[in-house]
Order: sequence, then structure tokens, then C-alpha cells
Amino acid sequence: MSEESKKILKSLSDELEKGELDDVGRRRLISQARKLVSSLKNEGDVIMDVFFAVSWIPLDPQDNVTLMVIPCFPFQPLQGNVIKVMMDLGLFKALVSGGHPQTAAQLAEQSNKNIDPQLLNRLLRFLAAHGYVDQVEDKYQGNSATRALARDESEYGAEHSVGFLYDGYNKIPEHLKRIGYVNPADKKYSPLSLAKNMDGKDTFEILAVDPALEATNKWFRAVSAQYTPWIQTYPFLERVPMVNDGEVQFVDVGGNLGHQTLILKEANPQLPGRFIVQDLTNIVPATSHLAPAGVEFQPYNFYDEQPVKGAACYYMRYIVHDWGNADGIRILTRVREAMKPGYSKLLINEWVVPEQGASRMVTGADMVMMVAGSGMERTLAQFRELIEKAGLKIGEVFYAKDEISPAIIEVVVA
Ligand SMILES: C[S@@+](CC[C@H](N)C(=O)[O-])C[C@H]1O[C@@H](n2cnc3c(N)ncnc32)[C@H](O)[C@@H]1O
Repeated sequence: MSEESKKILKSLSDELEKGELDDVGRRRLISQARKLVSSLKNEGDVIMDVFFAVSWIPLDPQDNVTLMVIPCFPFQPLQGNVIKVMMDLGLFKALVSGGHPQTAAQLAEQSNKNIDPQLLNRLLRFLAAHGYVDQVEDKYQGNSATRALARDESEYGAEHSVGFLYDGYNKIPEHLKRIGYVNPADKKYSPLSLAKNMDGKDTFEILAVDPALEATNKWFRAVSAQYTPWIQTYPFLERVPMVNDGEVQFVDVGGNLGHQTLILKEANPQLPGRFIVQDLTNIVPATSHLAPAGVEFQPYNFYDEQPVKGAACYYMRYIVHDWGNADGIRILTRVREAMKPGYSKLLINEWVVPEQGASRMVTGADMVMMVAGSGMERTLAQFRELIEKAGLKIGEVFYAKDEISPAIIEVVVA
């Protein structure tokens, strides 16, 4: 625990010791408690906050981590949008590199845009009230949250969340009303398609023509670094058959920039065989230069026949949750057709929603999936149903020890 956290905690407990609190004292304590939460966060927590645009207050005391989603928190869109403005102005970086308190007027001069210092002061005051910057008399300075917000990863998260998904969040009530409050299942008819005036297009077709595409792909990679590397959850070397040179060891279906494949490859450079990252044509060519030795990129639409047959391992992270059940079954069926029974494994790397007491992060991710393309986070029973309908069966489920990283569902041909 940092010195700052200890100081706040001590002043909190001193106040509590004093006994009965009036309303002013109680509110002062709430404010101190918020500061305590802010001071406990590390940069990874703040980066996740930006994507989920959470409040600083952990409303649910059972959560032992603080990066949780509070989808209905009224300040959420304000926080996210003001943060995005500050990023557009390049001012989190200026606050951090300045190293000393600065007035709004001094900061305005460092912006890459022309901003009225009065307006900037209002934005900064708001951010200080939420703990994203510190106010020192009439000046502002960066704190640990500001440092996280100044990082490129936070900008990718904000671009994807505030720049791309927020419009869809605002359309949840209208969309659910127009579909008569049934469980959304149509990937081309979603709050996002309604918001973007693109009914008839799925998430990735909408994203393909959106300015947020590049930042989104970088965000997918950045977010993977915030979780426990998947090979720490799944003992790959013990569970997956090793291949000979020239055979396919690993296929990362919908693997985007290939960051998950790299985690495996870099930890096990001795592994023989081919490592293939598959994704849509508008993603793969743009990332080919990133392919390190031994990793190949392959344009592939996972609704089509899987071109790589009989690989030792097919891997899908955050793929099934993007889609409703009918699409999920189609996508999984394509993998099953290519798998060699009794040999190939399919790893589904996703959150498994507990039947009770699901966290804010997982339930929030479920809402995000619903917004983007009628997808969903699933319980184990829901995964099992999907997997079995695709002619597959669950072998074993491996849960991450940190309780926030996604699980690995090991699947084989039924
Ligand atoms: C949520 S991202 C997950 C990316 C990566 N697996 C990860 O965990 O970071 C979903 C990925 O599926 C890809 N995708 C969407 N539709 C696809 C399709 N029809 N065929 C192949 N890839 C697709 C997207 O381009 C994107 O890279």
C-alpha cells in the first residue's frame, strides 16, 4: 500500500473513531473513501476504467478488485467524454510531463488545439472532483490516474469505447423497445447499428468503416496485457499434442494482431510446427508486418470452411461472446469440421459467468456485447449447450487464479 493510501486510511479511521457523524462529516468520509480507492488503483486498473468508463467508487464490497463496471452510474458518460476531450487536446501527457502544478491557462498553451482556458478550467475541475487529476490551489497536476490516462493504451480504449460504442449505449432503451424486449439475437440489428444508422450490418462491418478501427485493434492487443497471460491459466505443453515440423500446432481464429499467439510462441520458442493467426481481410494485411518468425497471418472468414485441417490446437479468445447462439453454433461448427477427432483441441478463452454473484466487469461486458452486435457473455451451462449443438463437448474448464482474467474451456470433438 502506498504512503498516500496509508495517510488517507489513517485519516478515515481517525474520523470514524470520533463517533457519531453528522451529514457533513459523513459526506467528507465518502469523499475520502473515494480518494482511497483512487490511490489504490494501479495503471492497469485505470486503463480498464477508461474502456468500461467506471466510477471510482467500488459499490460492491465483495469485489476484491476495483476495475469494475457500473453501467448505470450517472457520471459515466460525463467521465468518459471529458476524458476523451482531454486526450484529444493531448493534455494528460502535458500534465504528466510538466511535473509541477500548472494553471488552466498554462496548460491550454501546451495543447495541440486552441482551447479557451475558462473551458479547460471547467473540465479540469470536473476531473479533479473525480480523482483523475489533482488540484493544488488554482493549479492542476498529474497523479497516478493521470499517468495511466496519458498512456497510449488508454487512448485506444477511449477511442474504442467513447468514440465507437457509447452511441450504442445510449440506444439500449430504444432498441430493446423496438424488438419487444426479447433477448437480442440478431447480429445485424443492435443498439450500435441503430445508433450508427447501419441496421443490416454486424459489429465488425460497422467497425470496418469507422475511424475507430485502428485504435480498436490496438486496444484488443493492449487489453490482453491487462490480464494474466492465458498460458498461465492453461498448461498448454501438458494438454496439447506436440506436432512435427511443418504440421500446424496452433490456429488463432479471429486472432486480430496475433497478440495471444505471441504469448504462446514467445514463452515457448522451442515449439515446432506452424502458428497461424486468422482474421478478416481488412485486419490481416494491415498487421502482416507484425508477424514474427514462425507466425503466419491468414485472411479467413470464420463462417466459411476452415482451411486448416487437423491442427493440434484451435484457439478463440473473445470470439463466441461477440455473437448470439445461432452464429456461435455456426462458427464453432466450422472449427469442429476441421478438427481431428481424438487429437485436436479447441480452446475457448472467455469469461464464464457464474450463475450467481457475477461481477460488475463480467455483467458489464455482457451489456457491451449486447450493444455491439447482440452477443453475450455466457454461463457454463450456456456454453455447454452451444458447444454440444456444434457437435463438440467440453473436456475441462480452467479458471484464472486472479478471478478476473477469462477462463479456458477445453473442447474436443464429441
Ligand atoms: C473481440 S475481437 C478478439 C480479437 C482477439 N481474438 C483477442 O482476443 O484480442 C474479435 C475478432 O474477431 C474478428 N472477426 C470478426 N468477424 C470475423 C469473421 N467473420 N471472420 C474472422 N474473424 C472475424 C475481428 O476482426 C476481431 O479481430
